[in-house]
Amino acid sequence: MSLIQLIEFSELGDERGGLISLEQNKNIPFDIKRVYYIFGTKQGVARGFHAHKDLQQVAICLKGSCRFILDNGVKRESIFLDKPNTGLFINNMMWREMHDFSEDCVLAVLASDYYDEADYIRNYDDFLAASVK
Ligand code: TYD
Repeated sequence: MSLIQLIEFSELGDERGGLISLEQNKNIPFDIKRVYYIFGTKQGVARGFHAHKDLQQVAICLKGSCRFILDNGVKRESIFLDKPNTGLFINNMMWREMHDFSEDCVLAVLASDYYDEADYIRNYDDFLAASVK
């Protein structure tokens, strides 16, 4: 099974322009406790490089583009995000990296819980050790 789970959001736009609505436990498969966004990323910068023990997230590239790498400790897959109608579901215990941000990229992330540094695994070897169970 692919690591890449995309959610395609219904477009509610009309002749005036686009509109997409995100609702917890409807088109977002968890309670949304936190939303953050990444923007103004400097050229050549890569982010992420961590996994979460419990947190689930959906990442949506609202503007511009970027590339995600997901890695479950067994395989590694890449996906280019450049559409505001497509969310990338990132399960817990999934190593993620974000690369190739366009200058105008605005990446929104919906998260199933509040920020908690204790939920992060920031070392890849620790992630591998924890994921091979
Ligand atoms: P970090 O997780 O390193 O970002 P990325 O994974 O995109 O590289 O977060 C950068 C800093 O921001 C770090 O000090 C933690 C802090 N932070 C919060 O305080 N709250 C949040 O919701 C997030 C995502 C990060």
